Amino acid sequence: MELINIALPKGRLGEKVYALFKTAGYPCPALEEENRKLVFENPEAGVRYFWVKPSDVAIYVERGAADVGVAGKDILLEYAPDVYELSDLGLGKCRMCVAGKKDFRDDRSRVLRVATKFPRIAREYYSSISREIDIIHLNGSIEIAPILGLSDVIVDIVETGRTLLENGLEPKEEIVPISARLIANKVSYKFKNAALGQLAEDIAAHCPTQQ
Ligand code: PRP
Repeated sequence: MELINIALPKGRLGEKVYALFKTAGYPCPALEEENRKLVFENPEAGVRYFWVKPSDVAIYVERGAADVGVAGKDILLEYAPDVYELSDLGLGKCRMCVAGKKDFRDDRSRVLRVATKFPRIAREYYSSISREIDIIHLNGSIEIAPILGLSDVIVDIVETGRTLLENGLEPKEEIVPISARLIANKVSYKFKNAALGQLAEDIAAHCPTQQ
């Protein structure tokens, strides 16, 4: 039987995702050993897992290097990969927000400077409220931008809100709720339909949104 290739997001979310796959009937003991390997397989369960950077999962799946994967809705909205979104796993819940300094007041007579790792999401949001903006595309530590006066606000992920709080910032508007999604390659979904359909069903039966 051909293995199902699964791209997992490396890190905290990935550990939770693997735990879910394991309880759903797709364990891989080799993956649970402490080591630096990135590819693991368990032919008995019909799976091959690999750890990739969370923001790269959708690329592996879109190009068919992985049949399925788990990616945040933030990545799917930002890069709009050509994949099927099979289900919401209810894990990694957070919000995409506009945040700024506590005393920030929007002056609509000026162009708003927005620092973000998510230029597309930011552009679409501000275009939907007809607000003219200047995007400052950063790769991390976005919270620093308003503190140093590089931007007026940020568009970023807020989970507990601690990073904002500890940097004197606060959420101003929520753009969209985010959570982890099971995605599938379109060609794989056709040719490995029985196996992927079964996997999606098994995962859905065990994921937090169902409990
Ligand atoms: C995200 C986000 C915030 C932080 C929010 O960063 O960019 O910095 O988490 O979490 P909190 O509300 O619980 O404080 P992430 O850890 O994904 O790393 P990054 O800096 O590479 O974006």
